[in-house]
Amino acid sequence: MILVPSVRLATTDDAQAIAEMSRQYIEHGLGWSWTPIRVRKAIREPSTNVAVGHEGDRILGFGIMQYGEETAHLALLAVEADHRKRGLGVLLLSWLEQCAMVAGIARIRLEARADNGAGLAFYARQGYRQVGIVSGYYLGMLDAVRFEKALAGDPAAPPA
Ligand SMILES: CC(C)(COP(=O)(O)OP(=O)(O)OC[C@H]1O[C@@H](n2cnc3c(N)ncnc32)[C@H](O)[C@@H]1OP(=O)(O)O)[C@@H](O)C(=O)NCCC(=O)NCCS
Repeated sequence: MILVPSVRLATTDDAQAIAEMSRQYIEHGLGWSWTPIRVRKAIREPSTNVAVGHEGDRILGFGIMQYGEETAHLALLAVEADHRKRGLGVLLLSWLEQCAMVAGIARIRLEARADNGAGLAFYARQGYRQVGIVSGYYLGMLDAVRFEKALAGDPAAPPA
């Protein structure tokens, strides 16, 4: 049987795998704030969507989006290193963006590590606009680049 990666909402059984990916691929050098307990809480939180990309039982990537009134915040996004450059990052991001659009969210904001050149380029190519630098955002040790993207339907969004 050929398995094709697809996206679904996470369950609490996915929390360990998600937290380990966060530690390895996003929080390296910064401790471990997205522990399994915190991820489990996010999965249960009604104003947060935790999505996983999976092939059968194997979790290959995930994204966490937190909803405000008009703005959603993409807290984390990562794909297993051996499954990158196959479209799963874009699939996860667009799945979360679609959910946000349906929920009436006008824009998405996110911060990415200033030392993550590949991540910064990825978001820029997905239509995210750099709106600032947040000095010492990560434990006072590392700056973040803040990005924003207006979703279709936002009256303030520029015409396509
Ligand atoms: C950023 C990240 C999530 C992207 O995930 P990904 O699965 O590699 O993303 P995609 O495959 O959808 O897209 C990445 C690139 O692969 C290309 N690609 C997609 N499918 C492809 C395929 N079949 N063959 C070759 N290239 C392909 C895309 O066009 C894209 O190219 P670009 O970067 O030049 O625009 C991933 O690199 C990652 O987890 N990095 C570590 C954590 C991180 O930095 N997270 C983001 C900041 S919090």
